Amino acid sequence: MAKVTVVGSGFVGMTTAQRIVEDNLADVCLIDIVEGKPQGIALDLMQSGPVRGYSSRIVGTNDPKATYGSDLVIVTAGLPRKPGMDRSDLLGVNGKIVQAVADYVKVGSPNATVLVVTNPLDTMVYLMRAMLGFPAERVIGMAGVLDSARFRAFIAMELGVSFECVHAMVLGGHGDSMVPVPKYATVSGISIEELMTQEQIQRLSDRTRNGGAEIVNLLKTGSAYYAPAASVVEMAHSVLRDQKRLLPCAAYLTGQYGLNDIYMGVPCVLGSKGVERIIELKLNEADRASLQKSADAIRKDLDVLRKQGLLK
Ligand code: LAC
Repeated sequence: MAKVTVVGSGFVGMTTAQRIVEDNLADVCLIDIVEGKPQGIALDLMQSGPVRGYSSRIVGTNDPKATYGSDLVIVTAGLPRKPGMDRSDLLGVNGKIVQAVADYVKVGSPNATVLVVTNPLDTMVYLMRAMLGFPAERVIGMAGVLDSARFRAFIAMELGVSFECVHAMVLGGHGDSMVPVPKYATVSGISIEELMTQEQIQRLSDRTRNGGAEIVNLLKTGSAYYAPAASVVEMAHSVLRDQKRLLPCAAYLTGQYGLNDIYMGVPCVLGSKGVERIIELKLNEADRASLQKSADAIRKDLDVLRKQGLLK
């Protein structure tokens, strides 16, 4: 059985660990700096194994050495947003956490694929890859699957159709400037442009862009975790089972979409080698301009990291 380390036993981390063992996808090592918490969650999940009928094992630990030899590392550690906060407000504190995690992943799991969930996502995955020095295709950010899932859910709710029929592509950064592309949002292959008015599409796109904040404002003490966990587990399936799903992921760009040396959400084929292919869509002028704007916002955050001395 493959070995997955989940870093961080907050809500996203524990839900991710739960789904991985329930799916019998891999054995899990759940690590956190808080003493007792990952151990407690792991024991609880082991004890639900006989009832739910899974055979994946899970251990909880505070010791980085226990993570060594992982095939996949999912990084969820970091502070979540509070109401009124922007994802970028988390740069400094979460940047330091990402560095600490990179230190032991680099030494102990040099062949792992790394999926980053920590916010602000596009900058944290860039930092993680810079610290690890791994090939870029093995360091990937989770955001597009989540943002697309939100768009898909809103479309299904608006039209009164099954979630399963709805597919969508949300590109760009995981921030206010993300780019839902209506042309690629379909219900059983029919573009939503044929099924909805422009006003509806605009409203659902705006709600998608604001999807994380909507939940932060409702919860008041944390951010979303069920959909983020579901999204990163979908990516984990594709990597560990070499499924080659085509998913929007934060990938390292080397000229695609006219962008260079930046991580941003684009459609990727995910398999055992990580990002095996980046698909370059023919976007219209407006969507291209939106992607550029999204990239500008990410570069601004990267500059803040550099000024803070966290990134060279
Ligand atoms: C969200 C946070 C986790 O989008 O970024 O819910």
